[in-house]
Parts: sequence; structure tokens; C-alpha cells
Amino acid sequence: MSAHGAPIPMTSRASGPLVGEAHVPGDKSISHRSLILGAMAVGETKVTGLLEGQDVLDTAKAMQAFGAQVEKIGDTWHVHGVGVGGFGEPENVIDCGNSGTGVRLIMGAMATSPIVATFTGDASLNKRPMARVTDPLALFGTRAYGRSGGRLPMTIVGAAEPLPVRYEVPVPSAQVKSAVLLAGLNAPGETVVIEREATRDHSERMLAGFGATISTEVTEEGRVITLQGRPELKPQTIVVPRDPSSAAFPVCAAIITEGSDVLVPNIGLNPTRAGLFFTLQEMGADLTFENMREEGGEPVADLRARFSPDLKGIEVPAERAASMIDEYPVLSVVASFAQGRTHMPGVKELRVKESDRIDAMATGLRAAGVHVEEGEDWWTVEGRGHGNVAGGVTVESHLDHRIAMSFLVMGFASSRPMRVDDGGPIATSFPIFETLMGTLGAEITRD
Ligand code: S3P
Repeated sequence: MSAHGAPIPMTSRASGPLVGEAHVPGDKSISHRSLILGAMAVGETKVTGLLEGQDVLDTAKAMQAFGAQVEKIGDTWHVHGVGVGGFGEPENVIDCGNSGTGVRLIMGAMATSPIVATFTGDASLNKRPMARVTDPLALFGTRAYGRSGGRLPMTIVGAAEPLPVRYEVPVPSAQVKSAVLLAGLNAPGETVVIEREATRDHSERMLAGFGATISTEVTEEGRVITLQGRPELKPQTIVVPRDPSSAAFPVCAAIITEGSDVLVPNIGLNPTRAGLFFTLQEMGADLTFENMREEGGEPVADLRARFSPDLKGIEVPAERAASMIDEYPVLSVVASFAQGRTHMPGVKELRVKESDRIDAMATGLRAAGVHVEEGEDWWTVEGRGHGNVAGGVTVESHLDHRIAMSFLVMGFASSRPMRVDDGGPIATSFPIFETLMGTLGAEITRD
């Protein structure tokens, strides 16, 4: 089943060359945070370039349910915030659809207000672990009542008199870090979050932008992030940068498809997000950063990706995993077209994404003729070299947008077409994927 309706099978076939410019949509992580922080500011935040994928639209609806006014006028989203501690109690269940980021950040944002809210999601989200968020929220005094194993649907009872918290995040997760920081906004005093491995830092950057007092110190313990509670957040004008995780798909498609030359303009190269691009360069991909510049305090470039016939398999450093965690599915497709083995260690988190991404990709890659080995927190792909990947199978997308897009990209360069049983979830993060790839010269059809 698709996230929001009947399954939409899609097939991709030998295409190319892929040529032209790929304008990918706004960053999903920054889009969620723009709406949530806008709702917690006093006054009107204006957002352009917002990703209008289903995940973000579900967060917009949720912010309305907590009392913020959210509307789109022309190209601009206007969020009239209610201030830190100003959330009202929703009248109905909050449905976050497919979005782990949405549900976990919103749980944090409401956890220190004296209100009760019940959260649910689709079949994928309702399988995902929530204790990683509700455990630290309990330290503020928040209570959570979910299904066994800490799964949704779940009711959160916000703490009426929250205490500030010091918490070391046990897994590399920006969602957990962000949930604790958002909860800390309405707790008195200092909330401290410690992360051993650096994960995406959009919450820290944006909280500072909204006027919170927040600092990050790099110590032997890791990154120690300190937030002063009870600030008055000031509304902002936000231009959401384009999503490097979406850029990954046209970039990887160009690299494996003969004759291709694709420009993907305006992509943020925040070091906590850009790991895939350096990995592709190490594999020998013809990928360059053009027009390097700074925008809104972040490095930005236009990415140029060209067909790369001589890719080689590599060891992907485990320390890089957090900065490319959403990109492993499409990396495993590129690795299939390389010569030699690509080893990807330190990736246990892939097993608790929208699907178990190691299992989903390994199953589909094997069916398409690629040898894959896996353990709990690692996997290897034996590259077959360009022109030697069979394809010719239907694979399951498991309600996971990135699994669906990865296998469709594979079909552009495999000998026979690749069919995914349901491309519907692509709309959660990259609603224009089919048309955009089509304008570059790719062939994707619906049954
Ligand atoms: C995200 C954090 C990551 C990432 C997800 C978006 C965020 O999840 O996979 O797509 O916006 O904070 P984890 O926090 O589970 O690593």
C-alpha cells in the first residue's frame, strides 16, 4: 500500500543519456524545522522553497492542530506562531503519515506543555521505535503511553512543571537530539544534549537563527550542546535550500547512465549532510562542485555529475555514516556498477528507517543479479561493472521513498527494466521525481 492510497507500481528502463539541469525540491529536514520553530515563535515566519512533500504537509497540519496558523499565499508559507509554551491541546489524533522526523520533533516540541496529544502514522511509521525519544522526554517529566515496544499510536502527556535535562544521545540521531532540544525550549534553566557522533545540525543553527541562546562545544565526550530554556523566539524569513538527499538521485543516475551530464544547482554542502558526494568522488565518479559559495552561513555549490565508466568499490568510513545516512540505498546502486567490493560499516541505524533499508536493498539487489553480504551494522556490495547489472525484476519498496527511487535509478543503467511495486511513497520527499527525471531523458512509466 502506498502511504496515502493504492499502490502505484512504476518501471524504469535503459535511458539516456541524462542531460540538463535538475532543480530538486527544498530540504526536508529544514522544511519540518521551519514550520515547527515558526509555530513556536511569536509572530509571523515566512518560508519560501518549502518542500511540499507529504511528510512536510503532515507537519504543517499538525502545527495547525496545536494552534499555529499555517497558510500558503503565492509561493510563500506564512506561519503565525503561538510562542514557546503556547501550544494548545489538539482536538484530534495527530497523523504524521510516513514521517519519523515529523512525529519525533513534534513530540519534543509539545512535551513540556501541559497538554495531551495522541500521535499515529502509516504502517511504516507505526513500526518504528519511539522509546529513543520518549525515554529522554521522561526526564523532563513527560509521560508516554504507546503500543508495546514503544510504537505508535502513542499518547504523550506533556510535563506541567518540566525540569531541564542533561542527556547523552545513545544513538547517532538528529531526530532524538532535536526532540530533546525542542522540549528544552519550554523548560526553565539549561538543557544539555551530548552527542558522540556529529549528526545534522540544522536544529542548532535554526534555533540560533530564531534567537535562542544555544552553543556547541566540541569536547572529549563529543559535541556538548547547551540551550537556555524559555526564550522568546523571533519570527524569521527563511529560504529553504535544496535537499542534498534528493540531489543524490539525479547525481547518482547521471554517474551510472552512459553519456550523461547533469547539473544540480544550489545544493547545500553542510558537512553534516554531504558525505555521499565525497564518497562518490573517492569511487572515481566524475562529480564536481561548481560555483562554490556561502549562503545563509552554509556552503553551497552547483553539482555537476557526468557518466563515470570506471567506478571502483571502496571502504566507506564508518565515521562518515551519519553525514550520508539517507544516501546508502542509492550508494548501493552506484556500487553495483563499480568494479570491486564496496564495504559500508557502522550503519545499524539503516535498519530502523522508513524500512529496514539494508534488508530492502539487499533483497532487491540480489534479485537483480548483484551479490550482497550483510551483518547487523554493515553490508557489502560486489560491483559487477558497467553494463553487467541484469535487472529485470519487481522489487518491494516497503513504503520507503528512498528504496523506490534507488531501484528506479538502477533501471536506467541495468540490462533489463526495474519495476517497484509501489512508487507512491516518493511523494513524501520528492513529489516531482518522475517528471524531473523525465525532463533529463529518463524513462519511468506507471503500469
Ligand atoms: C533527520 C534525521 C535522520 C534522517 C532523517 C531526517 C532529521 O534520522 O535519516 O531522514 O531531519 O533530523 P535519524 O535521526 O533517525 O538519524
